[in-house]
Amino acid sequence: MDHYTLPRGGKESSRLNAQHNLYKDLQGYLLHPTIAASLPSKNCRIADIACGTGTWLLDLASSLPSHTSFTGLDISSAQFPSDSDKPANVSFRILNILEPVPEDLKGHFDAINLRLLICGLKAKDWSTAASNAKDLLKPNGWIQWCEGDFANQDVCPPNDGQGLRDLLQYNIEISQKNGKMLYDSVRNLRTTIEGAGLKRCEEVVVSTQSQAELTESCTWVEAHAMYGLARSLSDDLKATEALIAQCEEGVQRGCFWSWNIHLVIGQKSS
Ligand SMILES: C[S@@+](CC[C@H](N)C(=O)[O-])C[C@H]1O[C@@H](n2cnc3c(N)ncnc32)[C@H](O)[C@@H]1O
Repeated sequence: MDHYTLPRGGKESSRLNAQHNLYKDLQGYLLHPTIAASLPSKNCRIADIACGTGTWLLDLASSLPSHTSFTGLDISSAQFPSDSDKPANVSFRILNILEPVPEDLKGHFDAINLRLLICGLKAKDWSTAASNAKDLLKPNGWIQWCEGDFANQDVCPPNDGQGLRDLLQYNIEISQKNGKMLYDSVRNLRTTIEGAGLKRCEEVVVSTQSQAELTESCTWVEAHAMYGLARSLSDDLKATEALIAQCEEGVQRGCFWSWNIHLVIGQKSS
């Protein structure tokens, strides 16, 4: 079962890696400080669910002691890095977070990251993903889940950028027809994580407009996600390409989307 609606080719991998750098700059860290401070000094294990290219995991691995082990998990291995691109303490394996977790990974990790899984989830799947992620945690382990509130974006400036508005609306409508990218999924992320029984939840919300110098990169990253999503869900490719072309004209004129990034953390009980 793979409901994922973005492509997985080389260009998309480059987009994910660029997006990673942007989110890191906007948020100011890879791991929320509360989680970073809680990591054990021995046998520390960290996982990244829906890891894509593994960019978050590899970046974190480069900044933590080499005795920490890092596991990237994804429903598809298509974007995993090659063996020559990863250190010995980083590994990758296939896992569908919507299915019960394998026995050998139950209670295995001190910290788990999930980021930008939104295109793989229908409304009912969010709580399943949170509950299965919790099963992967050791007692007292932490989950960190980060999503963009893509269903509630503004287009700037208000008097221009109709092409950006139209493509966004199109993507929302075709996603919502499939039960995805609902207006409240990301805004309810904290409630979803609390509902899975995680404690000490905290939410940090950062606007993509908070650092003006990043607006252009945010727009590039978002535009190419929008184009990929529209093409993958389109039932009329010619009309979709016309929408994309109008949107791109607006982007070239300097119009951009602005959205909030939500990051929620929660801890498993002892
Ligand atoms: C937009 S990418 C984000 C990748 C990475 N988290 C990042 O922030 O760079 C979403 C990823 O979710 C994965 N995915 C989708 N559905 C999944 C599922 N049910 N279980 C595990 N991974 C899934 C996709 O294969 C894809 O690699």
